[in-house]
Amino acid sequence: MLSWLFDRKSQNTLDFAHICIDIHSHVLPGIDDGVQTIEESLAMLRRMQTLGFKKIVTTPHVMWDCYRNTPEIILDRLEEVRSAANIAGIDLQVDAAAEYFIDEHFIELLRTEQPLLTLPGNRLLVELPYTTPLLNTSENLFSIIQYGYQPVLAHPERYTYFFSDLSIYKKLVDQGCELQLNALSSSGHYGENISKTAEWLLKNNLITFIGTDAHRTQHLDQISKNNKNRKMLEYPFQNEKLLSI
Ligand SMILES: [Fe+2]
Repeated sequence: MLSWLFDRKSQNTLDFAHICIDIHSHVLPGIDDGVQTIEESLAMLRRMQTLGFKKIVTTPHVMWDCYRNTPEIILDRLEEVRSAANIAGIDLQVDAAAEYFIDEHFIELLRTEQPLLTLPGNRLLVELPYTTPLLNTSENLFSIIQYGYQPVLAHPERYTYFFSDLSIYKKLVDQGCELQLNALSSSGHYGENISKTAEWLLKNNLITFIGTDAHRTQHLDQISKNNKNRKMLEYPFQNEKLLSI
């Protein structure tokens, strides 16, 4: 235990130990655009452990045009990864939820009250299209609350159509939506505008959680080695509160 703490510090990488729990990643193999093999899954889990995480709730895409994942598919794959991690001696708690793209399929799942996979506290991680806005974003997010879930909007800083009027973010938060920043955003991984929006959201205290959104080990390497992220980690993210729920 002490030796890997020392290793982590000596490599001058960032330490996510106080964040405790990552709530956004793609580490279940072969079911979305994240890792494709069990070996890659295990490599991801090892890197996350080294970064200081105690637990992850991984979130495969549910996007009906591309990734038709159901709770059964996701939970079966979770069990495979858990048992492989156990055999490999990886000391990291792994759970699964999903990252639901707000499409007609998702609205139908909600409307017909199908079982959905949630983050702790009955939270639903949802994502929007990146460049073309939905006609009714606010109504859709509000309907999630009406069906008894707490919406968490994934990577709000990546939706470029919000940039022309940043007040939308405050409206979403006021309406009851929690916002989850991607750890890669502040370092410029997705471009300068997204990095600036990430900084603005942090400065205005609109972010609740941070997530890696890691799809491959290179993402975790980028997160851990970028010094711009050091200041970002001083922000009072509330991830740790999810550990005890
Ligand atoms: Fe994601």
